[in-house]
Amino acid sequence: MTNPEFSSSEDFAIAMDEHDPLRHYRQCFLFPKAASGGNCVYLCGHSLGLQPSTAAKHIQQELKDWAELGVEAHFQAANAWMPYHRLLTNQTAALVGANPLEVVVMNSLTVNLHLMMVSFYRPTPARHKIVVERGAFPSDQYAVKSQIAFHGYDPASSLIELSPLPGESCLRDEEINLLIERLGDEIALILLGGVNYATGQAFDMAEITRAGHAKGCVVGFDLAHAAGNLRLNLHDWGPDFAVWCSYKYLNGGPGCVAGCFVHERHARCFDLPRFSGWWGHDERTRFEMGPTFQAMSGAEGWQLSNPSIITLAVLRASMQIFHEADMERLRAKSVTLTGYLEFLLNQILPDQKFTSRFSIITPQEQIRRGAQLSIRIPKNGRALCERLTREGIVGDWREPDTYRVAPVPLYNSYRDVFRFAQRFAATIG
Ligand SMILES: Cc1ncc(COP(=O)(O)O)c(C=O)c1O
Repeated sequence: MTNPEFSSSEDFAIAMDEHDPLRHYRQCFLFPKAASGGNCVYLCGHSLGLQPSTAAKHIQQELKDWAELGVEAHFQAANAWMPYHRLLTNQTAALVGANPLEVVVMNSLTVNLHLMMVSFYRPTPARHKIVVERGAFPSDQYAVKSQIAFHGYDPASSLIELSPLPGESCLRDEEINLLIERLGDEIALILLGGVNYATGQAFDMAEITRAGHAKGCVVGFDLAHAAGNLRLNLHDWGPDFAVWCSYKYLNGGPGCVAGCFVHERHARCFDLPRFSGWWGHDERTRFEMGPTFQAMSGAEGWQLSNPSIITLAVLRASMQIFHEADMERLRAKSVTLTGYLEFLLNQILPDQKFTSRFSIITPQEQIRRGAQLSIRIPKNGRALCERLTREGIVGDWREPDTYRVAPVPLYNSYRDVFRFAQRFAATIG
């Protein structure tokens, strides 16, 4: 994909919006209001996606069925609750490039990560190490450290944190490969984010999976910042598992039910250790209430509990929009939109005054990033972020020095990006 010749005039942004084939999807979302009364410039879909305007209708339907049918809604609701999660299976599979058997929506991300590690982190004295990015999302760090300790190993010697080279912010692909090549025989699990939450760096998941498997390691991904952001092809890339949340690019709302992928090659491995619950039990005999767990095939066999229909209803609203908009078209717009944001920020940068005030740490190459740009602001960045937020320009701040912004192709416009860059330049100057 090549970007058009960008221009820093507002007319360029207006023209790009006019020619954007996805522009009408903006109307499908509810924007928070700025103090001025207009819509916020909301560049925070990497943290919490906006509410689909059809969400309330979807929730109302379930509340109505509950009110009118009570427990019978499990079978008689317009969308019967018993198999409700399956309404999301095909669209979820398409979104992450998987077979329907390989995906399920259930629990929350960290819970799913633990469930996956129970099954796929099988340390032995010779092979007990887990590889993560240095500065991986804290919940992932806590989860892997607790899993290591649970198995009687010491995180100090069993956790390998991949660090960028001195003076660099992002990991080099070759460094990841070198590490796997060098220590692969001791590594039980490679667990990386598809996109790093802090830097916005996207990893080459196909290559990491290939290299890891060649050394006999299990490979899993945390796709919290990749699902609904990048085009994913999980089945063909072949990782053993992946987990993601649904409230960022997927707009499922706070605490929405999360996603999980288990590669087909494990679909019928019923002897894998797993923490079990009744919703993962063979649905044909689930209500016989027998004492012995028999897992369902595929990712559904890792379910624990009956899911929250209310949050799934919101996710349905969003996934219908996603499905219609199509990930390929969204990614094409995303590449241009984020390229445009980078272009405008770089227009500010040539001035010596600005180069010392901020820098973009996200990789420049399209394939090494998604929608997000992470801007390092060494001094007073938090105050800048807060000031912009008060003006209705919404990104977010991650300690110690990173301002994250993500123009989301589903609902952000080129004018949003233009307005952001204008206010950012005025505020940082
Ligand atoms: C990369 C990453 N991993 C894990 C989590 C934790 O997700 P949850 O609270 O749904 O378990 C987040 C939350 O923002 C995240 O960004």
